[in-house]
Amino acid sequence: MANLPKINIAPSILSADFAKLGQEIHDIEAAGADWIHIDVMDGHFVPNLTIGPAIVKAIRPHTKLPFDVHLMIEPADPYLEAFAHAGADIISIHPEAVSNLGNSLIKVRNLGKKAGVVLNPATPTSSLENIMDSVDLILVMTVNPGFGGQKFIDSQIEKIQIVRQKIDQHIERGGTKIDLSVDGGINVNTAKLAVNAGANILVAGTAAFIDGPSKYARNLADLRNSTMAEI
Ligand code: DX5
Ligand code: ZN
Repeated sequence: MANLPKINIAPSILSADFAKLGQEIHDIEAAGADWIHIDVMDGHFVPNLTIGPAIVKAIRPHTKLPFDVHLMIEPADPYLEAFAHAGADIISIHPEAVSNLGNSLIKVRNLGKKAGVVLNPATPTSSLENIMDSVDLILVMTVNPGFGGQKFIDSQIEKIQIVRQKIDQHIERGGTKIDLSVDGGINVNTAKLAVNAGANILVAGTAAFIDGPSKYARNLADLRNSTMAEI
């Protein structure tokens, strides 16, 4: 197989032990994580409350890996600066959580960070029209956001394929690189489906952190190997 893109794994610390986040991040990095995915929930845009900028700032010294901050907060704009200053490298936004998606993406880039757009299962790919030049990452949700440990929604495979086509067309027209990430229910079975459909970043909570630190290297290797196995 020629020219296989590198698959980056972004463990979601939503599934880590919150009582020792620094150690958990160290352990998952040592196990082979490429990015750290941080799920920010406000109990309003999604029915759960998680992490704020103070926590992001506190864990920042524990790794040099990119912080992939997934904002599930509405409104998102008032907090972009706080997450940027706390140490986010990529800040991803749901179109439904801002009044003008294009403006919010530009704000993120003006803060010196990479800008991402997140598509919920019910959010159409038409949301990407006219903003491809302002985006560094497109995140396709394969569960409805709010909680870890949910079942992968198969209908989103077709959406990943469509987004991959849009990214490839954008590159052909001379556009800059855009990563395609998938988030929710990723395991050794669904990771391969997502990668075959065109994803190059895999967010994994449960599958990364299951069975504790002594198994993190195994968990990430299993995920990575599953994407390379013959069909
Ligand atoms: C869901 C979050 C996900 C979640 C993934 O709202 O955006 O990042 O933590 O967890 P798993 O891999 O367990 O589905
Ligand atoms: Zn997420």
